[in-house]
Amino acid sequence: MSWNIHPSDILLNEDQIQSGVERVALEISNTFPTNEPLLMIGVLNGAFIFLSDLCRRIQRDIAVDFIQISSYGQNLCSSGNITIKKDISLSVFGRSIILVEDIIDSGHSMVFLQQYFALKGAKKIYVCTFLDKKDRREVPLNIDFCGFTIPNHFVVGYGLDAKEQHRCLPYVAIINEEKE
Ligand code: IMP
Ligand code: MG
Repeated sequence: MSWNIHPSDILLNEDQIQSGVERVALEISNTFPTNEPLLMIGVLNGAFIFLSDLCRRIQRDIAVDFIQISSYGQNLCSSGNITIKKDISLSVFGRSIILVEDIIDSGHSMVFLQQYFALKGAKKIYVCTFLDKKDRREVPLNIDFCGFTIPNHFVVGYGLDAKEQHRCLPYVAIINEEKE
């Protein structure tokens, strides 16, 4: 099944996205002293576009790694049953890390990742997300850096997919799940 995207479905256009990324990059640049080693960990697959734009706008040296966790299908909420599909290669022990997500929905995935990296000995764990569907939260979660808070719609583009479709769109659009 494919979803057609009409101009009226666009929630964030390219210019809006790029100014949001610039703002988040500035916030991150201003938060960390330039002599502090910083590691950004992107959550695959969705965060790869946001992270690649973001890290090129941050005025400091950054190490980058990626992790992938089990997904649960876009129509469902994550259960407590999350597993690691691909782990990072770098060590987080004693380091400040920034976890970079495409979108935070229920919050279960991010809480799982915070606990996972705390157990691996990360010194401080920051949360950065491109999008936040705040109204959907099921667990308390503090977000340190956020691109945009959005209403409760299923969105695609700029890294976010619906069954692997529309991930590489340069904008973010709402798709109507009833069309599935
Ligand atoms: P959470 O554990 O419920 O916070 O789920 C977060 C994950 O669900 C994200 O990393 C996405 O992979 C996926 N997700 C949640 N909402 C959307 C959406 O609107 N579009 C695409 N993926 C989504
Ligand atoms: Mg994701």
